[in-house]
Amino acid sequence: MGFSSVQSSRRKVVVIGNEKGGTGKSTTALHLAVAALHQGHQVGTLDLDSRQATLSRYLTNRERYRTSAGQPIPLPHSLRIDEPEGADVAALETSARRAIEAALAKLAACDIVFVDTPGSATTLSRIGHEYANVLVTPVNDSLLDIDVLAEIDPINRKIIAPCHYCQMAWEYGNQRIIDGLPPLDWVVIRNRLPHIHSRNREDIDQILTKLANRIGFRLAPGLGERVIFRELFLNGLTVHDLPLVDADRSLSATQQSAGSEIAALLEALNVVPQENLALATSAN
Ligand SMILES: Nc1ncnc2c1ncn2[C@@H]1O[C@H](COP(=O)(O)OP(=O)(O)O)[C@@H](O)[C@H]1O
Ligand SMILES: [Mg+2]
Repeated sequence: MGFSSVQSSRRKVVVIGNEKGGTGKSTTALHLAVAALHQGHQVGTLDLDSRQATLSRYLTNRERYRTSAGQPIPLPHSLRIDEPEGADVAALETSARRAIEAALAKLAACDIVFVDTPGSATTLSRIGHEYANVLVTPVNDSLLDIDVLAEIDPINRKIIAPCHYCQMAWEYGNQRIIDGLPPLDWVVIRNRLPHIHSRNREDIDQILTKLANRIGFRLAPGLGERVIFRELFLNGLTVHDLPLVDADRSLSATQQSAGSEIAALLEALNVVPQENLALATSAN
């Protein structure tokens, strides 16, 4: 097995990454995975954040709920890798690469694999990024979060220099081109968007648009600040499960909007197999 054989599968690997904690990586990974499951795709998840393991915990809660409530909610094929330990950087990278390739080989039958990463540059996270067809970077609606992507002049709001994470993503993209692989599709999304218009929101819009042009990512529809994105954690559910677990209750307007935000994001990632889409359309 090797890098190119893991890559050559038609399956898409979507890495959710940002070297900052609390930007919504695990929330985004879980919601995208569940949305894709409900569309009938074979979905895998890979948790590379062995310390917090939020995605794994969410999915354990989901499995438990499925059993205890007897609800046939769909489950992804989920795997988690522990951070390798040791002082030899080369040995750490080799063992991270081996573990990731073994996991991706186990998930070879999936259409899409969503990879959650920690908010710091661990070995697993860095190596995991190398396997991304699509990199999704959620940023909170705050200048503090943008600071992880680029240094911004506080007076004129111009970009002074891209930061470490941007350079890293840019290098992954370059390496893929050198290896003759399809280019990395880097997608930045805004998370926890407030529902009211503000000067801050406008500022961030402008800065991200400039950054996208300069650094080479694209912007996709983000997620609003919504309680429904966090309140179902203990049962491992998302808004897309609600019609299945409570068929008598119709979704509120807010819940519908939350579901649409996730569906719009999944569509914008262009990772859904076209033949599945055609089947879903003909079945409707
Ligand atoms: N769109 C959202 N609306 C409301 N709460 C959110 C949203 N996205 C994330 N959160 C909450 O923000 C916190 C951090 O999210 P999390 O997904 O754990 O981030 P990360 O994985 O990047 O550390 C959690 O408490 C989560 O429930
Ligand atoms: Mg997380």
